Amino acid sequence: MKITIIGTGYVGLVTGTCLAETGNDVLCIDIDKDKVDKMQKGIVPIYEPHLDVLFERNIEAGRLKFSTDLHQGLDHGDVIFLALPTPEDEDGSADLKYVLGVAKDIAEYITTYKVIVDKSTVPVGTAEKVRATIAKNAKTDFDVVSNPEFLREGFAVDDFLKPERIVIGSSSERARNIMQRLYNPFVRSGNPILMMDEKSAELTKYAANSFLATKITFMNEIANYCQKVGADVDKVRLGMGTDTRIGKRFLFPGIGYGGSCFPKDVKALHKSGNDINHSFKILEAVVDVNEHQKTILFPEILDYFDGDIKNKTIGIWGLAFKPETDDIREAPALYMIDKLLKAGAKIKVFDPEAMENVKSKYGDQLYYASDMYDALKDADALLICTEWSIFRTPDFEKLRELMNNRVIFDGRNLYDIEEIKNQKFTYRSVGRQF
Ligand code: UGA
Repeated sequence: MKITIIGTGYVGLVTGTCLAETGNDVLCIDIDKDKVDKMQKGIVPIYEPHLDVLFERNIEAGRLKFSTDLHQGLDHGDVIFLALPTPEDEDGSADLKYVLGVAKDIAEYITTYKVIVDKSTVPVGTAEKVRATIAKNAKTDFDVVSNPEFLREGFAVDDFLKPERIVIGSSSERARNIMQRLYNPFVRSGNPILMMDEKSAELTKYAANSFLATKITFMNEIANYCQKVGADVDKVRLGMGTDTRIGKRFLFPGIGYGGSCFPKDVKALHKSGNDINHSFKILEAVVDVNEHQKTILFPEILDYFDGDIKNKTIGIWGLAFKPETDDIREAPALYMIDKLLKAGAKIKVFDPEAMENVKSKYGDQLYYASDMYDALKDADALLICTEWSIFRTPDFEKLRELMNNRVIFDGRNLYDIEEIKNQKFTYRSVGRQF
């Protein structure tokens, strides 16, 4: 099939590359000329495991191409994916200016039947708005489909190639059949393609992300409570998670969720409820608790240093909002860095992938370590913000040699309490007793 992807952010790029992998002829459009130049040379503009191999293979095979020319893109695809940003407005709602802007261009330009697919996370009713925008000036038949993505950063290629489900929202039989044909190669294992109306598809995405954010947040509250009453959240987590109705995943407490999706989507669903007098009280609580959670270790650090951390050196391991990504959007590490800088601490940071992104935000306010141990040279404390695998089994002897104090503040519960005691460190984690 001939496919056009408009917008080569992380979703567009993964979608385009994976659709090329099943033999489709894919053209990706982006307004950023530098980015398009790079992609034409085979350079993947983001860090996403396994994407580079597929990218190279499909470019070489001539199935994956890039251009800045929107009209060329609208000519090319029988199916046109909109994978455009929907940034958070000041009031928390999703800004649709990019999606509706392109819809206007589509209306003026297309002359043969096209399926227009909303891939971006968009509020309920957006497919209708896109359809109305195109219909105003349309010279041909078209259909608008809502097809939300459920890709996790760091696992996006795997999630696309082997999805647990695909959600297609469309009232048109013709469009449904085309989408079914496009996605059939990815569900050979028997996982479902769920056909529904556009609005339900749009809401499915927000409801899924908001539920997961709520699940994490609930566990964070339980962890904070464990801390106060002397219980161990790891044990509670296992006790709960083995009930299949609850499930083991997304029950890991920590210093809050971050990223480009959960924070934005929870706020957007809350806001769209408010707009029609439907108050999502639970989501309001999720936002509040998560803001608080990002800084719960800060008072513990202050307390350890008797309220004064001026000129204390804090080594930080992990800056990305989660492992296997260089994305620092809404990362808890940033909240801790801001608090620590304000209190006069010196900060040495290390992250396997996110160093450049943090450097462009903080410049020379931080020391950028060459490896995880370099971040601990003469450090008065270690703070862990992201659970990269490399941090799970450190050389504790080396830590003892490098650091001024034997203290670890662990926002991701990486270590076994008994082992840490044997290693002679003072240890603060989330919801566990030391
Ligand atoms: C999330 C969803 O998981 C995807 O299904 C969805 O497609 C995507 O948003 C999106 O809307 O595009 P992502 O933001 O990449 O994916 O990351 P997750 O792996 O879901 O993690 C989100 C945050 O929750 C991270 O900060 C992570 O550290 C935190 N988390 C996750 C916890 O604190 N505890 C857990 O048990 C799990």
